[in-house]
Amino acid sequence: MIIIIFDNLREGVLELQTDIAIIGAGPQALTLTTHLLQKGQRKSPLFVVLDPSGTWMQRWQQQFMAQDIPYLRSPAAHHPDPNPVALRTFAESRPQELFPPYDRPGRQLFQDFCQTVIQQWSLQDRVMAAEVVQIEPIQQQRHRFRLWLKDGRCLLVRRVVLAGGDGALNVPGWVRSLQEDYPAERLCHSVQVNLSQLQLRGEQILIVGGGLTSGHLAIGAVRREAKVKLMARRQFQEKLFDADPGWMGPKYLKGFCAEPDWHQRWQMIQTARNGGSLTPEMMVQLRRARRDKTVELAENCQIEWVRWQSGRWQVQCTDGDDFECDRIWYATGRGLDASRHPLLQEVQRYFSTEIVNGLPVLDPHLRWLGCELFVMGGLAALQVGPFSRNLRGAKIASDRIVEALTKPTVALSRAVA
Ligand SMILES: Cc1cc2nc3c(=O)[nH]c(=O)nc-3n(C[C@H](O)[C@H](O)[C@H](O)COP(=O)(O)OP(=O)(O)OC[C@H]3O[C@@H](n4cnc5c(N)ncnc54)[C@H](O)[C@@H]3O)c2cc1C
Ligand SMILES: NC(=O)c1ccc[n+]([C@@H]2O[C@H](COP(=O)([O-])OP(=O)(O)OC[C@H]3O[C@@H](n4cnc5c(N)ncnc54)[C@H](OP(=O)(O)O)[C@@H]3O)[C@@H](O)[C@H]2O)c1
Repeated sequence: MIIIIFDNLREGVLELQTDIAIIGAGPQALTLTTHLLQKGQRKSPLFVVLDPSGTWMQRWQQQFMAQDIPYLRSPAAHHPDPNPVALRTFAESRPQELFPPYDRPGRQLFQDFCQTVIQQWSLQDRVMAAEVVQIEPIQQQRHRFRLWLKDGRCLLVRRVVLAGGDGALNVPGWVRSLQEDYPAERLCHSVQVNLSQLQLRGEQILIVGGGLTSGHLAIGAVRREAKVKLMARRQFQEKLFDADPGWMGPKYLKGFCAEPDWHQRWQMIQTARNGGSLTPEMMVQLRRARRDKTVELAENCQIEWVRWQSGRWQVQCTDGDDFECDRIWYATGRGLDASRHPLLQEVQRYFSTEIVNGLPVLDPHLRWLGCELFVMGGLAALQVGPFSRNLRGAKIASDRIVEALTKPTVALSRAVA
């Protein structure tokens, strides 16, 4: 299948041209491409997927390995293939890798399944190793974009789908205000922790956050014979999923989509997710570890400052508590802010749209108002709802975007802007 129509060298810049560019090759993008190919069976859509790794699902797999996550949080019905029972069918010979309740798939099962999906839809060679550094709407040619790549090349496209994952890492203020030097691996965000490469025996580790990542890191560190203090700024919340499962379907989404006030929708999302949460089985493990005195659970606690002194961290909390530890990991998640997203700066300049507490107002097809840029993942939450970051959100988003992408469009012109 041809994905790049032609390339041409102008003024030292290599320009490639295609119809649709999908930025990112994570689960959101994989879900979109399978749905796009299924819908466009008679006339194959021209698209290219761009990701610095040059492969599918690299970030997902790396995070699951690095944090020692045994199985998914979401049910077996949520995966990148358009056939809802495809994962269950795939797992027929591996039932022990589906975990109750809701048959949540094991890490390896899900990974093998995704590889099969990639092969079945002939997507192995669809990811171009490239990082997009700018999306430039072309003034002279409406309905076209120039995507600037980090290596200096650029891509001319008619439609863009932004599926680059959640936004920048949340870095707490006390980390940002640190002045002195310290060894980078002794204080880092959870995405920089790779448990399999660490010797932690006898160490004391402070983990900040109340989401499931903080729980996995705590249990992983204890398994490596460290002692952990797990600190949340609120009380730990116990929830099977990120939000009530009613938000995965029409039960709550019907009312959400009928709500005309974007600020109300934003509030509904906040209330539904209500920050980070830990699954019941993770809470069981943490409570057991607390009984064994390998984990201390510190709730309603925040750090005021930390200081690196004589090879250890001195930690001062806002409630007056102070202690020492060997490492600090902040599992504070990622933020979502379209107004600061580096790839959306130019788009906003040409096609300004309302941004509600970081989330852009999109049309029902998840299209940026006024142009052919589509947004998936957390940034599409005002349309997709509280699960927009998750696999369920990827399915909802794909159905909406594909409907718009498979509408007939004007034939690609060979003209270069
Ligand atoms: C540890 C962890 C476990 C999770 N488990 C579950 C679960 O069990 N069930 C569930 O439903 N959800 C889960 N989630 C939530 C969500 O499903 C995942 O975060 C998922 O990876 C989101 O998919 P994505 O495609 O948006 O992002 P990502 O997986 O982050 O993929 C985005 C890709 O875009 C690429 N990219 C970014 N910027 C650019 C650029 N400028 N140019 C080119 N490429 C770019 C990145 O390199 C990356 O490969 C989990 C999240 C985490 C962090
Ligand atoms: N499959 C799995 O087993 C698995 C494993 C890990 C993660 N996940 C999923 O991945 C997604 C991300 O999870 P996550 O745990 O990385 O992130 P998260 O759910 O966004 O949780 C981040 C946590 O950090 C806290 N936080 C943020 N900023 C802070 C600050 N400045 N100071 C103190 N605390 C701060 C938040 O507090 P508040 O609660 O007060 O907002 C929240 O508890 C979720 O959808 C989760 O379900 C799944």
